Order: sequence, then C-alpha cells, then structure tokens
Amino acid sequence: MPLKYHSDASAIDWTKLADVIERAPLGKRDALTVQRSFTGSFACCFAEKDGELIGAGRAISDGATNSAIFDVVVVPEHQGQGIGKSIVDYLLSHLPERSVLLVSVPRQEAFYRKLGFRKLKTAYLRHSDIDRWIRDGYIEN
Ligand SMILES: CC(C)(COP(=O)(O)OP(=O)(O)OC[C@H]1O[C@@H](n2cnc3c(N)ncnc32)[C@H](O)[C@@H]1OP(=O)(O)O)[C@@H](O)C(=O)NCCC(=O)NCCS
Repeated sequence: MPLKYHSDASAIDWTKLADVIERAPLGKRDALTVQRSFTGSFACCFAEKDGELIGAGRAISDGATNSAIFDVVVVPEHQGQGIGKSIVDYLLSHLPERSVLLVSVPRQEAFYRKLGFRKLKTAYLRHSDIDRWIRDGYIEN
C-alpha cells in the first residue's frame, strides 16, 4: 500500500500517535493530551504507510488570515524520505495563505527554512514553563 496523507481523526489510535511523537523524538505526551491537541486543531495531517501511522502534524488557524503549525513528526526509520515536507505541504494546502507561524526545535531550523519559512526578529512567547524553553535553547534570556 502506498503512502497516504489524510486528516480523518476518527480512526486514529492516540496512544500510537503519542508513541510516534515520542520516537520522532518530540517529547513525551499522554494520549489524552495528544487527542485534545489534534482534535482541537483547525487542520491535521496523518501519514500512514501500509496502514501504519508513521507521521503527523497539525495547525491552528482563524480560517481567514493567521495560522500556526505544531507537532510535525516522522518516525526515525522513515525520516529523510520527503514525508515531513509532504506533511507541512498538506497542512499549508488547508490553511489561509497569508501568515503561518511555527516554532522550530533548535535542530530542525534548516528543515523549515528549506520549506520557505523565514526567521522572525520580533517573535515573543509566554509559556507556563519558560525556564525549560530557556534551558532547551529557544530563548536567549
Ligand atoms: C523534522 C522532521 C519532521 C523532518 O521530516 P523528514 O521526513 O525527515 O524530512 P524530509 O525528508 O521531508 O526533508 C525535506 C527536506 O528538508 C531537509 N531536512 C530535513 N531535516 C533537516 C534538518 N534537520 N536540517 C537540514 N535539512 C533537513 C531534507 O534533506 C530535505 O531536503 P531536500 O528537499 O533538499 O531533499 C523529522 O526529522 C522529525 O520528525 N524530527 C523529530 C521531531 C521534530 O523535531 N519535529 C519538528 C518539530 S518543530
């Protein structure tokens, strides 16, 4: 079976998706948090190969002008095959074109730059665990 990209959350095993996110790696999440994040999003993309979930991504949006992409992941054994790019392209095709934000993890900045994203000079963040963001290299002070 070829690779399939879709947005149908009804058949997604959220424990499996939490495992994909952890293995990518993009951190440990519980299945309920993953389910709430994806089902509460404006656009989702699930990548499947031979019926197996191997990647995903999601975006929030006002549906008219502004959007933000989160949680783009591909399992390690399928990275480097164009699947991450296809997930981002799928999300972009379901979002209004004007402005799409995303926060890259430090080691993936070149991936997003390749997909046409440009670095913001004036982006600001409030977060409940800002010390972790400083520790992990997202914020200068
Ligand atoms: C980031 C991630 C989604 C990329 O997915 P992928 O399927 O491996 O990437 P693709 O194969 O689609 O790569 C698309 C292009 O970006 C390039 N690329 C991918 N990752 C890159 C990186 N870290 N640095 C530089 N270039 C990169 C590829 O070489 C490819 O270039 P090409 O079109 O010239 O051949 C994947 O590596 C991943 O899941 N990483 C762990 C989780 C994570 O950090 N997610 C990002 C959250 S912000």
